[in-house]
Amino acid sequence: MSVSEAALQGWASEYATKSPQQIIKLALENFSNIAISFSGAEDVVLIDMAMKAGKPFRVFTLDTGRLHPETYRFLEKVRSHYKITLEVCTPEAEALQQMVNAKGLFSFYQDGHEECCGIRKVAPLRRKLSTLNAWITGQRRDQSPNTRNAVPVIQSDTTFNRPGELLAKFNPLANWSSEDVWAYIRAFEVPYNELHEKGFVSIGCEPCTRAVLPNQHEREGRWWWEEATKKECGLHIVNIE
Ligand code: ADX
Ligand code: SF4
Repeated sequence: MSVSEAALQGWASEYATKSPQQIIKLALENFSNIAISFSGAEDVVLIDMAMKAGKPFRVFTLDTGRLHPETYRFLEKVRSHYKITLEVCTPEAEALQQMVNAKGLFSFYQDGHEECCGIRKVAPLRRKLSTLNAWITGQRRDQSPNTRNAVPVIQSDTTFNRPGELLAKFNPLANWSSEDVWAYIRAFEVPYNELHEKGFVSIGCEPCTRAVLPNQHEREGRWWWEEATKKECGLHIVNIE
């Protein structure tokens, strides 16, 4: 079935305050070519809910090549726990080699994260999304005060859609807090990244993520050498367009 832009906008209003489970059910019932974008704690909650919804879905992850060893173990734990096929997306070798040969492996500390994120995350995401009609992310509004405070539960992705085609983006946890996510993880014994036991909250690539202090905002552990307004890597650029 093909979904129109108007139908998607209608659902966005109708589902604005519904539960994540209701939003996931709507997504899986209306899109067969749909995948969960998985890297962190929120995303496993989505996988758990999608399994319980009993409808088919795919799961992909962007392996930047720079993740923590703990994160690789976590990805594998989730894959085997839910018995899912985890579609691992890797950067294009030629572009990556050109960048690291020219600038080394830590150029982001000098000239910002955009170029490296562009090659290691955004281009592989674009490639994956060109094969899908809808994707599901674990974004929350309170995750990044400068860039995510208006994230809707359902939106039309105008950054990564194929020209002239609709790409639906579902953010079922947009209204949830970190506390809600962790209450779910504990209640349903959902697997999580062992780095969370070492003070990490929001986890990305190893060189660009650090643990936060008590009461420090989770986003301060990401790209900490850059200004707060720039803390989007490009996956969710639609938030700041
Ligand atoms: S990021 O853009 O700053 O890296 P963040 O870590 O907050 O994103 O995660 C928000 C959502 O983006 C996740 O819930 C997930 O859906 C998606 N995401 C982020 N990083 C990845 C990744 N490496 N692979 C797949 N999805 C990802
Ligand atoms: Fe590169 Fe850091 Fe972006 Fe990872 S988060 S892709 S290492 S700049």
